[in-house]
Amino acid sequence: MTPSNTTGQTPVPGRPFTHEMVIVHRVFRRESALLPRLVRAVPEGDAARAGRLAAYVREYLDGLHVHHRTEDELIWPLLRARADRDDLVARMEEQHERIDAGLDAVTGRLPVWERAADRPARDSLADALDEHRAALLDHLADEEHLVLPLVEEHLTVAEWALVGRRGMEHIPRNKRMLALGAILEEATETEAAFFLGQVPAVGRLLWRAVGRRQYAARCRALRGALDPAGAADGEHTP
Ligand SMILES: [Fe+2]
Repeated sequence: MTPSNTTGQTPVPGRPFTHEMVIVHRVFRRESALLPRLVRAVPEGDAARAGRLAAYVREYLDGLHVHHRTEDELIWPLLRARADRDDLVARMEEQHERIDAGLDAVTGRLPVWERAADRPARDSLADALDEHRAALLDHLADEEHLVLPLVEEHLTVAEWALVGRRGMEHIPRNKRMLALGAILEEATETEAAFFLGQVPAVGRLLWRAVGRRQYAARCRALRGALDPAGAADGEHTP
């Protein structure tokens, strides 16, 4: 079965409707690269900074869990039913399981580092984050190159829109501005216009009045150790 996707809706002009996913994946690529560097930059014994960074690692883990859960619930079952490519769906599910195991390793090492803030615990956590990133990058590349073309063929734009909505609903309300900031950080003007267009008017107002600055301040606090000049502070978000 191939439902019609010909509603003429293209979220980002010139791009397939699944391009939204590629934009979201940029967040996970960027943050998964930053996390091990940030962890390694924490001085031995600085338990306060270790605690703050551990909280951010947990936010990242929650964000990735939400992303994968949404795919597990809303994309794979439809592809299984319609695309006749169970091999690819199985590959996605196996990769999610592999990533989950890596994330469990990260989760298990966090409290040890928070308690001791010592070098062995720090390096062990950073190594687990490196391993996680390797598994994640393989998965994101496969998903974008092999699975998104299938989605374009077999899911409707309305079904796809539900994926985006559900993903946002799973993010706690008090984290949504930060999530928006993370998405907008590397978005082009047209991509940003699309994402901001999905946000209710009051949310857009809130983003411009408060959210944008909150996100920039959070980036400075987190990334300052790597980039004291402040070049990576997310300030250029629209
Ligand atoms: Fe994805």
